Amino acid sequence: MTQEPMGIAIVGCGYVADSYRYCLKLHGDTLRLTGVYDRDAERLKAFAGYWKDQPYASLDALLADPACQIVLNLTDPHNHAAVTRAALAGGKHVYSEKPLGLSAQEAQELAGLADKAGLRLAGAPCNFLGESVQTAWAAVRAGVIGRVRLVYAELDDGMVHRANYASWISRSGRAWPARGEFETGCTYEHAGYALGALVAMFGPVRRVSAYSSLLIADKKTNPPLSNPAPDFSSGCLEFDGGIVARVTNSIVAPYDHRFRIVGEDGVIEISEIWDYGSSVVLRRASTGRLGRLIERRWPQFSGRRLKPVRPPLLKRGPGLPTMDFMRGVAELAAAISQRRACKLDAELAMHITEVTEMLQHPDRFAHPAVVASTCKPIEPEIWATGQ
Ligand SMILES: NC(=O)c1ccc[n+]([C@@H]2O[C@H](COP(=O)([O-])OP(=O)(O)OC[C@H]3O[C@@H](n4cnc5c(N)ncnc54)[C@H](O)[C@@H]3O)[C@@H](O)[C@H]2O)c1
Repeated sequence: MTQEPMGIAIVGCGYVADSYRYCLKLHGDTLRLTGVYDRDAERLKAFAGYWKDQPYASLDALLADPACQIVLNLTDPHNHAAVTRAALAGGKHVYSEKPLGLSAQEAQELAGLADKAGLRLAGAPCNFLGESVQTAWAAVRAGVIGRVRLVYAELDDGMVHRANYASWISRSGRAWPARGEFETGCTYEHAGYALGALVAMFGPVRRVSAYSSLLIADKKTNPPLSNPAPDFSSGCLEFDGGIVARVTNSIVAPYDHRFRIVGEDGVIEISEIWDYGSSVVLRRASTGRLGRLIERRWPQFSGRRLKPVRPPLLKRGPGLPTMDFMRGVAELAAAISQRRACKLDAELAMHITEVTEMLQHPDRFAHPAVVASTCKPIEPEIWATGQ
């Protein structure tokens, strides 16, 4: 039996909303946009005008519309909880951008509200439903690299404050919200892209040992940031079966979004975890000297590209999103229609929120070990011709 597309309404018509809106056309069978709302009247006008969407006059008007069954909460992280609470109270299912809440406690409260109301609550990111992660995951399940031992997940975004971020403008004209990003923190903003893939492949995280720091407080904003968040974090996550993942987030170190899964018989590398069409390469550990030399110096020649589980559905091109942001919303709608569990349910979003908080704010959970020993500073060698 074919299902009618489910009514969704967007709350928060900011920078990322354009990427979601662009991807909507891929899900015409599952999703139907009933309208959009932003509390910033100018933003609402610009977004609704660009996409020719129906603007709602208020959040109450949106929540009163019986055609809307799912609220797509694309507000900034500080407003996620309030909008999700209102939507649940209005009887709507919710798909929220990450993080579900600003703390595990807040996320837990929202999941409890949804459960009590008999409504679904799901959370981004959905990149583990993307072709590149699914290709890597299929190879892991097939035992291509043997028993998995270690994962290195890099979410280094380059030195963002040195980039001309004021020139980053979305399709409908929203400037990249630099202040919000710097005050929310790159770990809250990005860790979910690695955590979703890790939890999908290896189950829940059992223990976390993390470190975070604010390395560069001045991000060239005007006025200066009043409350900059850590711009670097790194944590080791333990999963059942003795699998360990090291997840690093920064907006300081050079751009690197590799996701490398190390098994006893090889390594699978997704070169860009933000790209559903990313290459997924299988490498075998070299045994001979020549092989090891090639591996070190010319890693591009030391692997074999795995055939994607299916070709990515997104058209590729400059300025086009590399992730289908709407895929998670479509999964939620399909799960509701088919009365089945959603792959991105509240439990998963809550779990990811908790682990993310542990990575960004390890001080909230356990005291870091203090090193008791010390050593004298080491003088550098000063060569005659060098520095
Ligand atoms: N910026 C990105 O590249 C990007 C990428 C992926 C995911 N995200 C996530 O998407 C979410 C939104 O990020 P963004 O960059 O689009 O932020 P943004 O600040 O550009 O947009 C947020 C919008 O929400 C509106 N809003 C806030 N509270 C509201 C409320 N109570 N009612 C109605 N509207 C309200 C604001 O007016 C604003 O227009 C965040 O959770 C972020 O982590 C952002």
